[in-house]
Amino acid sequence: MEKLFLSSLFSLLLFVHSVSAYTTYNVISFGANPDGRTDSTQPFRNAWSSACASTSPAIIYVPSGRYLLGHIVFHGGCRNSDVRIIIQGTLVAPYNYREFSNISNWLAFQNVNGVSIYGGTLDGQGSSLWYCKSTGNSCPTGARSLVFRDSRNILINGVTSISSQKFHFVLDNAQNVTMQGVVISAPGNSPNTDGIHVEKSTNVRIVNSGIRTGDDCISVGPGTRNLWIENIACGPGHGISIGSLGWSLNESGVKNVTVKNVTMTGTTNGLRIKSWARPSNGFARGIVFENVRMENVRNPIIIDQNYCSSSATSCPHKASSITVSQVTYRGIRGTSATPTAVKINCSVAKPCTGIRLEDITLTYQNQIAKSFCAHAHGIAAGLIKPSSCLN
Ligand SMILES: *[C@@H]1O[C@H](CO)[C@@H](O)[C@H](O)[C@H]1NC(C)=O
Ligand SMILES: *[C@@H]1O[C@H](CO)[C@@H](O)[C@H](O)[C@H]1NC(C)=O
Ligand SMILES: *[C@@H]1O[C@H](CO)[C@@H](O)[C@H](O)[C@H]1NC(C)=O
Ligand SMILES: *[C@@H]1O[C@H](CO)[C@@H](O)[C@H](O)[C@H]1NC(C)=O
Ligand SMILES: *[C@@H]1O[C@H](CO)[C@@H](O)[C@H](O)[C@H]1NC(C)=O
Ligand SMILES: *[C@@H]1O[C@H](CO)[C@@H](O)[C@H](O)[C@H]1NC(C)=O
Repeated sequence: MEKLFLSSLFSLLLFVHSVSAYTTYNVISFGANPDGRTDSTQPFRNAWSSACASTSPAIIYVPSGRYLLGHIVFHGGCRNSDVRIIIQGTLVAPYNYREFSNISNWLAFQNVNGVSIYGGTLDGQGSSLWYCKSTGNSCPTGARSLVFRDSRNILINGVTSISSQKFHFVLDNAQNVTMQGVVISAPGNSPNTDGIHVEKSTNVRIVNSGIRTGDDCISVGPGTRNLWIENIACGPGHGISIGSLGWSLNESGVKNVTVKNVTMTGTTNGLRIKSWARPSNGFARGIVFENVRMENVRNPIIIDQNYCSSSATSCPHKASSITVSQVTYRGIRGTSATPTAVKINCSVAKPCTGIRLEDITLTYQNQIAKSFCAHAHGIAAGLIKPSSCLN
């Protein structure tokens, strides 16, 4: 029954009407206005308060239309652990990005348990902020569109995010999260518009999604464990990145990440692990990249333990970094947009170990591409083009 109703909005609505155990809260009856101009922030807050206070499972229903929403924090501590937010319409951020000058998140869930979001579009209206940033004037950093913090048992299903000011989706200290059928869209040159950022989180699945944006399609921060990424189309964007890691001396590591059946199209990086050249006890280990198709990707496979963002005012250049180990690349095929398709550039103080390259075919302009390794230890198996440079 559950699977069936996920398949289409129509059957989903049938489900809504047929499950009497749920109490439904329609945002319109709280005074929300779908005209795209009237501020609906307070009606949405009130709908959440009611759903959260319900002792039975609750549905918040957002009919079609455009809803102008300011900053909202949806606080947990609810009296039920099953709130479903069913969205047919579009949630729209204020056109004037200065309204979020002091706000880092647009829509934030804090300390919630058992929240699902089905459908709908989030429109961050980021273009005027991106333009401001492109002029070199001082501009606000921008708000991230949808954030879950200190939360667990979360489902984000069939949600679209367009034109976020900054990151589209963030999971920060979240446990047991599934994101599926997510569509993310922003121009390839929109600054800092990471698609999905995950940190300090455990048991997260990101599947069956398409991400076109101006920064990392998916970025993985410190403290991430048991992350599963499968069936993703990425590009334009900066690829899938583990890192930047190692900014702090005392940092929790990244462990057990699987990235499977991904297509990268025209991205600046493909599969990247990056860390700052600073002393840190952080690590990245138990990482598997499998069955990835590259189309015209600038750095298809890259480990960079001496990372520095172009926006950083000064780059640290200590010989140390985090520890990178047990990283497998299996079945990585396609085309590189630069001659060197494999760059495994590790630190002299913390060489990378247990790197495994298996069945790799990467070409540059119809020739076998090149590979570069420094302080990188591991083995190669199967057919490897370019040939392995591991020690
Ligand atoms: C942002 O914060 C500053 C100082 O904290 C304040 O002067 C300014 O009015 C705030 N801006 C907005 C849009 O709230
Ligand atoms: C994970 O969260 C989902 C809701 O998205 C829930 O149905 C499932 O029971 C949770 N799993 C565990 C192990 O708590
Ligand atoms: C690694 O993560 C996956 C989920 O992504 C999980 O099924 C598996 O049990 C984890 N392995 C270990 C050793 O924790
Ligand atoms: C791989 O992912 C694509 C979406 O990017 C999907 O269409 C395809 O069915 C997936 N293949 C497998 C074997 O799961
Ligand atoms: C390092 O951070 C962890 C929490 O992330 C904390 O429990 C621990 O005490 C810290 N260790 C030091 C030496 O600061
Ligand atoms: C590798 O990293 C070093 C710094 O550790 C840098 O100087 C060098 O240019 C990098 N090499 C490549 C090929 O990226």
